[in-house]
This record gives sequence, C-alpha cells and structure tokens, in this order.
Amino acid sequence: MNIKNVVVIGSGTMGSGIAAQLCNANIPVTLLDLKTEISEKAKKKIFESRPPLLIDKSKINNIRAGNIEDNFDLLKKADWVVEAVVERIDIKHSLYEKILKVRKKDSIISSNTSTIPLKVLSAKMSDADKKDFCITHFFNPVRYMGLLEIVSESINDTKKINFLKNFCEDSLGKGVIICKDTPGFLGNRVGVYAMQVAMTEAIKMKLGIEEADAVFGRPMGIPKTGVFGLYDLIGIDLMADVLKSFVKELPKSDLFHEVAQEIPLVKNFIETGYTGRKGKGGFYRMNKKDGKKVLEAINLTTKDYFPSKKIDLNIDEKVSLKELVSRNDKYGQYAWSVISKIILYSSSLIPNVTKDYNNIDEAMRLGFNWTKGPFEMLEELGVKFFVEKDSQLKTNEFIKELYDKKAETFYGKRQIYTDLETLGKVKQLAKINRDNKSAITYEHKNYKIVEFNTKANTLDYDSMDALKKASDKNLIIINEGMQFSAGVNLNYVMDFAKEKNWKAIEKFIHHFQMTCKQLKYSNNLVISAPSGLALGGGFEVLVQSDYVVAHTNIVTGLVETLVGLIPAGGGTTNMLWRWIQTQEVKKDHDFAPQKVFDIIGYGKTASSPTEALPFKFLLEKDKSIMNRNKLLSASQDLINEKKDGYKPPKQPTFKLSGGQVRDKMFQTLENLFKEKKILEHGMEVGKKLAFVLSGGNTTIDKELSEDDMYALELEAFVQLIQMEKTQARIKHTLSTGKPLVN
Ligand code: NAI
Repeated sequence: MNIKNVVVIGSGTMGSGIAAQLCNANIPVTLLDLKTEISEKAKKKIFESRPPLLIDKSKINNIRAGNIEDNFDLLKKADWVVEAVVERIDIKHSLYEKILKVRKKDSIISSNTSTIPLKVLSAKMSDADKKDFCITHFFNPVRYMGLLEIVSESINDTKKINFLKNFCEDSLGKGVIICKDTPGFLGNRVGVYAMQVAMTEAIKMKLGIEEADAVFGRPMGIPKTGVFGLYDLIGIDLMADVLKSFVKELPKSDLFHEVAQEIPLVKNFIETGYTGRKGKGGFYRMNKKDGKKVLEAINLTTKDYFPSKKIDLNIDEKVSLKELVSRNDKYGQYAWSVISKIILYSSSLIPNVTKDYNNIDEAMRLGFNWTKGPFEMLEELGVKFFVEKDSQLKTNEFIKELYDKKAETFYGKRQIYTDLETLGKVKQLAKINRDNKSAITYEHKNYKIVEFNTKANTLDYDSMDALKKASDKNLIIINEGMQFSAGVNLNYVMDFAKEKNWKAIEKFIHHFQMTCKQLKYSNNLVISAPSGLALGGGFEVLVQSDYVVAHTNIVTGLVETLVGLIPAGGGTTNMLWRWIQTQEVKKDHDFAPQKVFDIIGYGKTASSPTEALPFKFLLEKDKSIMNRNKLLSASQDLINEKKDGYKPPKQPTFKLSGGQVRDKMFQTLENLFKEKKILEHGMEVGKKLAFVLSGGNTTIDKELSEDDMYALELEAFVQLIQMEKTQARIKHTLSTGKPLVN
C-alpha cells in the first residue's frame, strides 16, 4: 500500500487546508468542489493565506482544481479520498455512493466530519466498503494544528488504519490519535466542554469577558485567546452547530448537557451577523472611533460594548495551579470551578470513551495548544488536594479509585499514541536540573537538552547561563511549548532602561554574545531544534549553533530594527559572515554588507525552512522536519553522525570598506526617507546598523576580528536603547504586539 495520489472533495476551510498540507508533503492532490471555479478560488486563497498554509508557495501546482461532475474519474487513480464537504449527512451519503462506485480497489476513503458518528456515515455501505472507510478529523488551520484524530471501528482493516496513521505522522507531520466512534472524539469532547464550562461559569459569576480570558488562559496553560477570544476565532455559528450535535448525540446522563444550553446572547449574535472574527465581531469587536481602531469587549450583563481592558491578575508568570485555585477572590473561585469541572468531566470519560487518559491530555496539547491536559492538571494539584478541597465535589469512579489508593502520583508515560522517541517522553526519563528560573536542563544519553521556559521563551541573563552551563556536553536546544523563542525579553531590558542602568544592559548583551560564542566554539556539538517563533535573539541562538533541525512551521528572522534596535547577540555579525562567503562578494566586496543591511533593516522573516534558505537564515546543511515529535530524535541522530571528528569552526575575519559602503547605505536610507517609507528614527536605526555592517571606522585593507564586530554590535545596541524613540517603539510593541513607526 502506498499513498501517491489523493483526491480531496470539498474545497472550503478544511478541504483547502488538507490539500495544502498534502502539497507540503510533495503529494499530488486534486481538490474537487461543486464547480471548478470554487476550487480554483480555494487554490488562490491557499496561495494568499496568512499565516501561509504552504511551506513553499512555488509548489502550488501540486494542487489541481476540478469539479465533481467533470473530474470524478480522477478518483479511479486515488489511493486516498478525503471528503470535506459541508456537515450534512444527506450530502455526504449521496457523495459516498458515487465515490464507492468508482474508487480504486483497496483505496482509503475518509471523512473530515467533526460531529457525525462513523456508524451513521457508513450506515449505507457494504461491509467490504466499511472496511476501507474511516474518519480523519483534522484541526483548523491544518498546517499549524498538530492533532489528527482517526476514528475507526472493529470492522476496519487494522493494517490499513495503521498504515494511514503512519503516513499522516511521517508525511503530514501530525500527532495521530486513534479514537473510538464516540461524539466529538477526544479533542472536541473535552475541548468544547472546557470552553462551555469556562463560558457558563463566567456568566454565572458575573465576570467580565476579559477577566475570564485572563484566567482561562496563560495561568492555566491555555493560549491567551482564552474562551471568549477562542469562540470569536472559531466562529460563534460554527460553535452553535457543534453544540447542537453534542446535545443530539450524547445520552441525557452526560454532564455535557449541563453546559450546553443555548445562551440568548449567542443566539442574538448569530441572528445579527455577529459570528466572530469572520463576521461583524462577537464577544470582542474592532470598532473605529475618531478614525482609530479600538478593540471592544461586550459586557455580558448590559450587552453593551466597551473598550477592552487589560486585566492584571497580580500573579507571577509561573503561578502554580494550586496557588491559582487557592486564591481567595473571584479569580481563584472561577479557576477552581472551571478546572475542577474539566477534570471531573474528562475522568468521567474513562474507560468508555478511552481507556488511555493520557491521550486526552495529548489531544488537548495538539488540538487546542494547552501546555498540559486535565490529567496532568490533576497530577499537579494532587488527587488528595483535589478531592478534599471542596466537600461539594461530586467525584466519579476514576477519581475515587485514585483517592482510595492514596497514590501520590498516578500519571505514567506520556505520548503513548506514538512510537517515536519524543521530547515529551525523554523529559520523563532524563536527569532534570531546575536550578535556573528561565530554562530547564535535562541530561540524557550522550547529550544535554535546554528548554527555555519563560513566557514565549523570551531570553534573559538566566537563559544564557543555562546554555553556557550545558555546553560542556553535546547540546540540543528544543522546545515543547509553542515558541522556540520570541527573542530577548524586552520587559527585562526595559526594566533596566527605566532606571537608566545602561551598564546592566551592556552586561547582559555581552553575556549573550559570549554565551553564543561559547556554543559556537565549544568542542561539543550544539543543535538547535526550533518550532514556532525563532525571532531576534531566538534566531541568534540558531545562527550560532552547529546545525539547525527545524520544524516546517518555524517563523524566523531578525526583527530587532522594528523595535528600534539592531541584532547584537552576534546576529548581525553572523549573517554578514554567511553572506561574505558567497560568490558575489568576489566581484563586489560591498555586496554582503548591503545584502544583510536589507535583510536586517527591513526586519525580514521566513515562515518555513524553505523560505529561510534564500535569506541564509538557514543553510543547506540544516534539516527540515514535518513532524515536531521527530525533532529530538533527528537531532540525536545528527549528534551521533557528526560527533566523531567534530571540530569547531575557525574564527572568521572581516574585510569591510567602512565609509565607502556606508555612504551607499545612507543613500538608500535617504531615498526611503524621501519616499516616506521610514521616519526620523527609522533613519537613525538604519545608520547604526550601517555603521556596524560597514565595519565602523575601517578600510578594506584592514582585517577585523569577530570580537571587533561583536564590539560594534554591542556599542550600537547600547546607544540605541538609550534613545527615547527606541523606548517608545518597545513600549508600543509590548502593549499592542505591533511595531511603531516613528
Ligand atoms: P466549508 O463550508 O468551509 O466548505 C465546504 C465545501 O464543500 C464548500 O466549498 C462547498 O462548496 C463544498 N461542497 C458542498 N457540497 C458538495 C458536494 N456535494 N461536492 C463537493 N463539494 C461540496 O466547510 P468546512 O469548515 O471546510 O468543513 C468541512 C468538513 O470538515 C465538515 O464536515 C466539518 O464538520 C469538518 N470540520 C470543520 C472544521 C472547521 O474548523 N471548519 C474542523 C474540523 C472538521
């Protein structure tokens, strides 16, 4: 069996996403809809999507567009047919009838349904067809969401299901969990329940939506969209349909019904076109006041919109769950009420929905980006604490049994859904060092692992210390959280800036440089294995590692100029060195500095390893990996392959033309200023960058060492951070997430 040719039917949100991911895996795919114009339009949307669904846009023609009348014969050649049409059983049934008549013998047919049971979908099929039919439930957006649930029944050909699982793991990079045919499978059953609890409890407790989102968010290890933000993102109408289906499918005794009643506000939203971000808005909306965009939030009691407030929960970023639910205020009560209900509901699903509670946690990580699932939350709180905290708690069999056993820990192995040696599994086996507040170090086999653990894995003095200490062995820098690193912690830098403590900033950046230098020249291999954001300082760690084993979803580049700074952790110097080694430099010695001036000056980023190559953010020697779960084992393989005979690189020297190339860069800046593409401070930052890249006060016949270049970077950084306009840029970005042009 092999999958070399796929047909996806239905070119809406999901069909397009699935087709794009197949295209990313270099598998020819045909996208069929009612009319070719619809699938052509979908193809255009795929091409233009942001964040991009394609890893490499030049591959778009791996996707062929067609319609179900004229091109249905293509199914005769398809190894896998994915149905992703509207959620209507009559339409799906009549489509299956047609598909099963023409399909290739032994091909796999699957539906992407999120709510219709497998037995209902396959009700009219022969046993022979049922064998080859299953549900493949992808999550939106398909490229970025890790979870794929495959739902099968005992009638299915197990070999085929396993084959499909492996294919989706290897080629499509998904975390594949095999589920029973129960409503909502695992991810949505718990995820939608969690959202409903978070929403109904917030209404009951009269919390503001921003307050609820602040608690049901980062402090609980849940993305910051919270519950109301997520409702708007998914679509309020879509959520209503999903709920209706749960109400229809689940037995009356299921606790889900307690949180699934129709809410008048939601009904009203849908009737008035307030379907969330895709419509006029929802719980939140963007409004224009005096020509300015203002984010507004609805008041759940008065139903009026007000400018959205930032909520300060007054807690440490790393607050423990126990501390959170023990707080003696409305936030603590809300957190407890929501968490306890989620844990109780999830444990009520054992063993009938799944016997592997671990899979529920992993489904929540992969499908909803939680950092821990309900059972990990229970383990963290402690069963005894959980049961004894609240005398009103209605425990179930699963909890009772754990409580009676008096076991301190119950959890067992993680990520049992895959055979791969994942980071999650290795973290349980390795020797752990938690001495550092910004990173955890693990020791396993012949290498160490550093995993940053700050918010968005931003970097500070301690993160560098962790790297420095771990470089006495082969080292893998990797992350299980969403981001590898969003860059240097700007709050940390701004705290010094507020006190005008420039010396402290200089010391930190110097430490950053020296740490990265040590990584580069140590006698051990250093491999960075990023997924998610690897920006600014995060990229500077990559560029000074021996190899990068990158997940295909990385977003990488140097964005310092957007906040009025320049890369000073070795990023400017190392990018320059990469470009100095190109052929073009032989003809024009100013080529490299000018090229890097453009890349850094514009804050260019790449959103895949393929896009990173032309900028030289990554090099041919680096690796690109579809499945995040493979990053660790691929890095480990690389260590074993390269460790014998490894020699650190030689220190480069730089010959730069100083004022000569700087004049050219200044000219570029003048032009941009005249065209109003940059303002005064843009000019200032550009000039500092030019000074570094031109080698400062040098001439082409002089040789500069790497340390000379680091010193130029450092000097420029310290000068820029002292400028008011740089600080204004940083403050703006920290509060809005967007760059300020000044
Ligand atoms: P959509 O409404 O965006 O797209 C459906 C597409 O199917 C449309 O382009 C429509 O023209 C086409 N279509 C309708 N009847 C057809 C037929 N007889 N033959 C060919 N094409 C036909 O829907 P969406 O959101 O992509 O959902 C598709 C499936 O995926 C549904 O079963 C849904 O439950 C499921 N799903 C949706 C998720 C989401 O987040 N939107 C997540 C996971 C599953």
